[in-house]
Amino acid sequence: MPQFFDPDAIVLEPTSPDRLTAEGYLPLPGLITTDGLMLLRREAAALEALARRRDFAMKCMDNSPRRMTTLGGQTIAEASDVIPALYRDPDLIKLLSRASGETVTEITDPVERHVLNILHQAGDTHGAHTDDHPYALVLFLETPDNPADGGLLHFLPHAGSLRNLKAADGTRTAHHRAGDAYLLRSDTTAHRVTPLTRPGLRRTVLNFAYTTPTAQLHRTGSATELYA
Ligand SMILES: [Fe+2]
Repeated sequence: MPQFFDPDAIVLEPTSPDRLTAEGYLPLPGLITTDGLMLLRREAAALEALARRRDFAMKCMDNSPRRMTTLGGQTIAEASDVIPALYRDPDLIKLLSRASGETVTEITDPVERHVLNILHQAGDTHGAHTDDHPYALVLFLETPDNPADGGLLHFLPHAGSLRNLKAADGTRTAHHRAGDAYLLRSDTTAHRVTPLTRPGLRRTVLNFAYTTPTAQLHRTGSATELYA
C-alpha cells in the first residue's frame, strides 16, 4: 500500500490525550502525505459518481440540516481497496491510540466505518450532531483555503444539548487545509460544518469511525439516514 501518512513525521505531545479529553478535538495538521493526498483525491473523485445527494432535516438531531453528497461505508468497501485498507492500517490505529491514550479499535458497522462527505454547492452544510461511536478521524481531501468561504468545523465538547452549539458560549471553530486531519471525541462533542458561502467551493472529507473496548454505542439512527 502507498504511504498515505508517515507515522514518524507526526509529532504528538504527551498532553494530546488530556487535550482530547478536555477539548474533544485534536488537530493533526498535514497528516496526509502529498502523494497520499493525490491518491485519495483520485479515489474520491471516482467514488463521487456513486454518491447520493442529500437535502433534509435530521429529526433525531434537533432537525439540523443535511445539504451534502454522501457515500456510505458499504459502497466504499465494494468500490475501493485503498480507503478500507487505510481505515484498518495498524500504524494509523496505533497513532490514534497514542493520540487518545486509549486502545482504539475498528468498528464493525459496515455503513459507518468509513464514509465520504462532499459539500459542493453554495449553502451546503453538515448540520449539528454527535456521532454513534466515540472517535472520528476526519481526513481533508479538499476544503476552502479561505475561512471566510465556510466549511469550518464548529464544535462543543461535553455538550449536553445540540442547541448549546448554536450559543457562542464555549463553541469553538477550526479551519483546516487539504491534507490535514483531526481526531474528534465525536460521541460527546457536538459538531457541525458551517455552510459553504458561494458556488465553486468544495469540501471533501473522509470520516473514519473508531471505538474502544469499553465504549458504549450511542445508536441514534442518524448514520443510517445519511449513509445507508
Ligand atoms: Fe460527525
